Amino acid sequence: MTVNDRYIPSDDRYSHMRYNRCGNSGVVLPALSLGLWHNFGSVDDFGVATDMIKYAFDHGVTHFDLANNYGPEPGSAETNFGKILRDNFSGHRDEMFISSKAGHDMWAGPYGGNSSRKNLMASIDQSLKRTGLEYFDIFYSHRYDGVTPVEETMQALIDIVRQGKALYVGISKYPADKAVIAYRILADAGVPCLLSQYRYNMFERQPEAESIPLAAANGSGFIAFSPLAQGLLTDKYLHGIPSDSRAARQTGFLKTDQVTDAKVDAARRLGEIASKRGQSLAQMALAWTMRDTRVTSVIIGASRVSQLAANLEALNNVDFTPDELHAIDLILASLQM
Ligand SMILES: NC(=O)c1ccc[n+]([C@@H]2O[C@H](COP(=O)([O-])OP(=O)(O)OC[C@H]3O[C@@H](n4cnc5c(N)ncnc54)[C@H](OP(=O)(O)O)[C@@H]3O)[C@@H](O)[C@H]2O)c1
Repeated sequence: MTVNDRYIPSDDRYSHMRYNRCGNSGVVLPALSLGLWHNFGSVDDFGVATDMIKYAFDHGVTHFDLANNYGPEPGSAETNFGKILRDNFSGHRDEMFISSKAGHDMWAGPYGGNSSRKNLMASIDQSLKRTGLEYFDIFYSHRYDGVTPVEETMQALIDIVRQGKALYVGISKYPADKAVIAYRILADAGVPCLLSQYRYNMFERQPEAESIPLAAANGSGFIAFSPLAQGLLTDKYLHGIPSDSRAARQTGFLKTDQVTDAKVDAARRLGEIASKRGQSLAQMALAWTMRDTRVTSVIIGASRVSQLAANLEALNNVDFTPDELHAIDLILASLQM
């Protein structure tokens, strides 16, 4: 590779993005972040993965969301991301906000997949090694595991910050009663919870009742994942399950039985509203998830640059009329029945 082949980020990269302040902190995050759960593993096309990170960065996406187990193979998304950074982004580390998480199954034996201190401490060292980073900007407890006392998990997060391995900490998918305990312990230790990460999209609105208000009341930012319901909130499944879709992939977490007639029908009807707004369904679904100012950022996934490019365009129309919101609510309510 010659010097001329080096990737040089675009000069106007920050003009494309809106940035939101994260809870009570001094950190801002892009309204849209990029997640590496799918499409960045050892089974995926490394060239496409590299191009997606470059495109995102060129368009103001400063936040990249990882976890120890992202792949497959588990861990390979971190390894690939580290390589992409080393090969293309030297000198740009301080322009990025990079997360990782631990708590789901990762390695064999009784210590490889829970929220114990044992797991978190080993995990962050493994993740730093795989990515080649000196520290993560935020490290999450990936889940409440149902057994480990929240006190133990939070103390591990606090110590991770004190050891300089992460700047901030967060919680992911914590039930409200456990989140309350976590917020208190972290605040008392002077390591407040920066971000609360939950699945939130038109088809899964549960966080509106508890998790979003609770995060806001505790000064935590809220970051939504799977805003397109893994692709169900796009036009992808309107005519069956395409062979190049997540639902069709052996390694995908969207199972074919989740592509129900009711959801496909709702997607079709939502798409009609989107089209009157001059948007694709995906763009409207992202705009809808961003409509609550307590939602700091929305983590999108993409399997190709064209999806990423189209989805970032959602930022061009994020306002809804009361009539549009009402029509959307009616469709979503009919789905619950
Ligand atoms: N904390 C947690 O436990 C947790 C759990 C899950 C996810 N997350 C985070 O959230 C991130 C995003 O999750 P997600 O990947 O499920 O997000 P998503 O945005 O709901 O789904 C992304 C998928 O939808 C399809 N898609 C995207 N744009 C499209 C378009 N314009 N037209 C047609 N299809 C489109 C693609 O799948 P195809 O392969 O079908 O093209 C893409 O990979 C993850 O990477 C991860 O960082 C966190």
